[in-house]
Amino acid sequence: MADADRVDWDAEADTFDDEPDHGLRDGVVREAWAERLRAWLPETPSDVLDLGCGTGSLALLAAEWGHHVTGIDRAPRMVELARAKLAGRDAVFLLGDATAPPVGEQRFDVVLVRHVLWALPDPGRVLRHWRGLLRPGGRLVLVEGVWGTLSPAGIPADRLAALLEPLTSDLRVERLSDDARLWGREVADERYAVVAHV
Ligand SMILES: C[S@@+](CC[C@H](N)C(=O)[O-])C[C@H]1O[C@@H](n2cnc3c(N)ncnc32)[C@H](O)[C@@H]1O
Repeated sequence: MADADRVDWDAEADTFDDEPDHGLRDGVVREAWAERLRAWLPETPSDVLDLGCGTGSLALLAAEWGHHVTGIDRAPRMVELARAKLAGRDAVFLLGDATAPPVGEQRFDVVLVRHVLWALPDPGRVLRHWRGLLRPGGRLVLVEGVWGTLSPAGIPADRLAALLEPLTSDLRVERLSDDARLWGREVADERYAVVAHV
């Protein structure tokens, strides 16, 4: 994760799901993410915009609960794999830039982003744009962290919270490092989710 801003995600796509928290192939890991994500998303079927959706693992969980998912990724192979993973579901995947998603005037109940924001230039500007993609009462669900202990890379929760505070009406940080089920192993670095309503 530490070099994610330099990764060729197209080249990584075919093996991306081999990581436990990416592919959610292990039932325990999948259930751990399902529990968290279910609590972060609205209870009623909603329009979810998944930015930097990768192979669509979180999108699949959301779609299984009746949410309509629009996934955006700039790596064509990721989009292909996400389309295959959610074939037959109420989901659309588009090739595009998460910082300026190609959704026209469409607005969403949730902007969901896992492990993408930290590597984008000018996260404050990006967050303002994402906020504008939400309907009134909508929410940002951001899963981020600071990976590695020797040369850590990422966005700390307090920095992300400070960027979100002027943009959102309430904000909750949920720490994820202590739940080894999410990662398929113990982790020592900072991992968290922020749910922020507008
Ligand atoms: C670490 S992966 C996370 C994938 C997915 N969100 C997940 O949690 O399984 C990062 C993903 O973000 C995508 N990505 C990175 N920068 C992007 C950008 N500016 N616009 C769209 N997608 C981007 C990559 O192609 C890759 O699929």
